[in-house]
Amino acid sequence: MQKTFLMLKPDAVQRSLIGEIISRFERKGLKLVSLKLMQVDRKLAEEHYKEHKGKAFFEPTVEYIISSPIVAMVWEGKNVVSLAREMMGATNPANAASGSIRGSYAVDISRNIIHGSDSVESAEREIALYFKPEEILAYDKAGDSWLSE
Ligand code: PPS
Repeated sequence: MQKTFLMLKPDAVQRSLIGEIISRFERKGLKLVSLKLMQVDRKLAEEHYKEHKGKAFFEPTVEYIISSPIVAMVWEGKNVVSLAREMMGATNPANAASGSIRGSYAVDISRNIIHGSDSVESAEREIALYFKPEEILAYDKAGDSWLSE
């Protein structure tokens, strides 16, 4: 089953939105297979956002990500990479659909609440950055058979 990496950024933690946002993914029918509250260090943040090195927002983004704890998560489900991105809304909250996570809780691109992998390849890279293989759990949920045939 497809997996994605989601991060509740420091503003989500500081604004007490952890439960609210996790609840959306649970209610959608996605499966949480790993989760940790953690303080990201500069090395990890720079590695995560390395494709943006040299852009004006790179350093402010790194500073933001290391400014306070984040929640790192791995979610599993059918087409979970694109589904989670759809639920998150556009990167810039100003353009995010009003019912989406960013559309509901954020106003500025520099504090946009949540990160989600943009492809299956990115998901594999990002999961490996934040988690050891043995931290990703495989388990059955009672409701699995009610989600799809
Ligand atoms: S882009 O425009 O294609 O380079 O952007 P994208 O690949 O969607 O992700 C850029 C990440 O940097 C964060 N960020 C910003 N992006 C664009 N402009 C500004 N000013 C900016 N500030 C911060 C943006 O939220 C993306 O981070 P993630 O964690 O992937 O959402």
